[in-house]
Amino acid sequence: MGQQAAYSVIQLKQLQAFHAVADAQSFSAAATLTHMSQPSLSRLIKQLEDEVGAELIDRYHRPLQLTAAGAFFYDKTQTLLTELDTITALTQRMAHPPKQLIIGFVPSVLYGLLPNIIAQLKQRLPDLDIQLKDISSYQQIEALKSGLIDVGFGRFAQRDDWVRQILLRHERYVAALPAKDPLALSAINPAPPIKLSDLTERRLVLYHQTHLPRTSAEQLNAAPLNLVETVTEPLLNLFSKYGAAPFATTTVSDLQVALGLVAAGEGITLVPDSLKTLRSEQIHYRTLLHEDATSPIYLNTLAQAPHPHLNDLLDIIYAVYEDKGITYRQFHPKKPED
Ligand code: BEZ
Repeated sequence: MGQQAAYSVIQLKQLQAFHAVADAQSFSAAATLTHMSQPSLSRLIKQLEDEVGAELIDRYHRPLQLTAAGAFFYDKTQTLLTELDTITALTQRMAHPPKQLIIGFVPSVLYGLLPNIIAQLKQRLPDLDIQLKDISSYQQIEALKSGLIDVGFGRFAQRDDWVRQILLRHERYVAALPAKDPLALSAINPAPPIKLSDLTERRLVLYHQTHLPRTSAEQLNAAPLNLVETVTEPLLNLFSKYGAAPFATTTVSDLQVALGLVAAGEGITLVPDSLKTLRSEQIHYRTLLHEDATSPIYLNTLAQAPHPHLNDLLDIIYAVYEDKGITYRQFHPKKPED
């Protein structure tokens, strides 16, 4: 292999002992949890402190606390230990190619093209055991790293060194209105597009469980930083982008409940275009004038060692888009020489 680097001689078991004691805030509780004796734990932590050259645990208070240096060291090494777990899980998966494909998805893609895509994938790969798991966009990142899912379809951009997000397309939002709403009863057929500012006198039903991360510019302008709420609700964010704000909002747990409330005449909401067949007796959907009032669809996958059937899945998705005349963005994996 490469040249021998001068790594620190800190040992993994010393780090694990330190984290166990820090988490339990007690040597005896950590000893029970780790099945080690208290003297062994103490010895490992003492060796670690000698190696680092700093006292990490304040042993004079109960429950035990970390020193300032210890808290810093804990934070930084936590990232290391998590990375090591991820590396181990990925290495195991590389060594044992999976016979199954576990697909995570957010509900809004299930009501659109997902069933068609899965049916075609099963036809192409009849021996592959395909499983589906509903899971929010944010949870998909950790689920990919831990092996809970192999790929995920989500609607939020996220940043993680281990994960690649393949942008499939931007899907237009449409307004969902109760059938009796005056805006649902357009005299013109087909009904012309409406603006978000036409909807501000209605109650907006919000259903996203995850919010948009703020841009770093927004974060920098907000002070003090540690008190800032770092997320925004996607639909409200969209309204504000067009200088509009609904007079009232109601927040519910998911999309189906939101559409139920709209059907009951309790408010309006915005949904991705592929959902406009849902509850079509009670809900009228109207196109929005704003071309960039859209919701992205991402295919989330591991950046390294993606599932061996990822390309089959992408082929099928692009074929479905072609077949339906949907505008999309094709992903070209980088060749090794690029
Ligand atoms: C889509 O609507 O573009 C889509 C839905 C599910 C999986 C992939 C793509």
